[in-house]
Amino acid sequence: MGRLAIYVERYTIARREEHAALLRYRDAAEALGHEVHFLFRNELHKIPRYDALFIRALTHPLNASYVAARLAELHGKPVIDDSRSIRICCDKVHMYHRLEQAGVSVPPTRLLTRPMLTPTQADRLFAELGAPLVLKAPQSAFSSHVERVETVEAFLRTGRRFFYHSDRLIVQQFIPSPFDWRVGVLGGQLLYACRYLIPAKTFKIEAIIDGRRAYARVEGVPLEALPEAVAQAALKAAAAIGQGLYGVDLKVTETGQVVVIEVNDNPTINAGEEDQQAPDVYTRIVSHLLEGKSS
Ligand SMILES: Nc1ncnc2c1ncn2[C@@H]1O[C@H](COP(=O)(O)OP(=O)(O)O)[C@@H](O)[C@H]1O
Ligand SMILES: [Mg+2]
Repeated sequence: MGRLAIYVERYTIARREEHAALLRYRDAAEALGHEVHFLFRNELHKIPRYDALFIRALTHPLNASYVAARLAELHGKPVIDDSRSIRICCDKVHMYHRLEQAGVSVPPTRLLTRPMLTPTQADRLFAELGAPLVLKAPQSAFSSHVERVETVEAFLRTGRRFFYHSDRLIVQQFIPSPFDWRVGVLGGQLLYACRYLIPAKTFKIEAIIDGRRAYARVEGVPLEALPEAVAQAALKAAAAIGQGLYGVDLKVTETGQVVVIEVNDNPTINAGEEDQQAPDVYTRIVSHLLEGKSS
């Protein structure tokens, strides 16, 4: 029998779908003869008493969740997410660098430093990559610092806003598509797949539209139905980051090329959404952590 700690924050249990998912991990563990306990921030010191740790909270090197990951590692316990994956995925510059080094296809991407935010550079980027362009701040999450710009003026305006918090920006070719593929990968194997259908009036999976937050609708896809090129690209992208749990976002271009938009550590797994066509996600994550199995 193993004992699994799931690190949660108050917001993790506030949303119905996330709360329901937490109970599914517990049920899955109990069915395998294991135990699951939920730990909150003021219980970090209990981590060494468990056999493994699963983090279900926002991960960032400046968050308590990072302390939880480090603590588990210092005590030699398996942990998702490991601190290295957190560090890589929270910085898009670092993440794209690793993807490109591993030969993973990403949209044509350029790095921008502050002195490069000029009309001449903007003109050049539009000429090279086409219009519109996508601008991203390295720390963006939940599509918060990702904007599509059509003109040099918009490029400079958004660039100035993003440079307020960051010393580097990412500029990408815009890849039009009605949905993002989201592929879950665990320990180097496919875990689940779905389509995140982009809401109307935006190009990203989450956006504020007319003052209200809109989210992508999630459509589960059985792993057998996942196009092979998407599956292979997702596995390669995940392997470029590590051997933990990742949610890989991909798009298929108009010419049929698969490009990786992002690798997320700590991907959302909501009951009734990502698990639609993969009800074994809970069992697989628990056995990976407690029994060292990925499938
Ligand atoms: N180059 C691109 N072309 C078209 N859409 C994009 C591009 N990059 C990002 N997006 C859209 O914006 C969303 C958020 O971008 P992403 O890089 O994943 O940042 P975040 O970390 O904030 O989620 C993506 O899920 C995708 O739908
Ligand atoms: Mg994303």
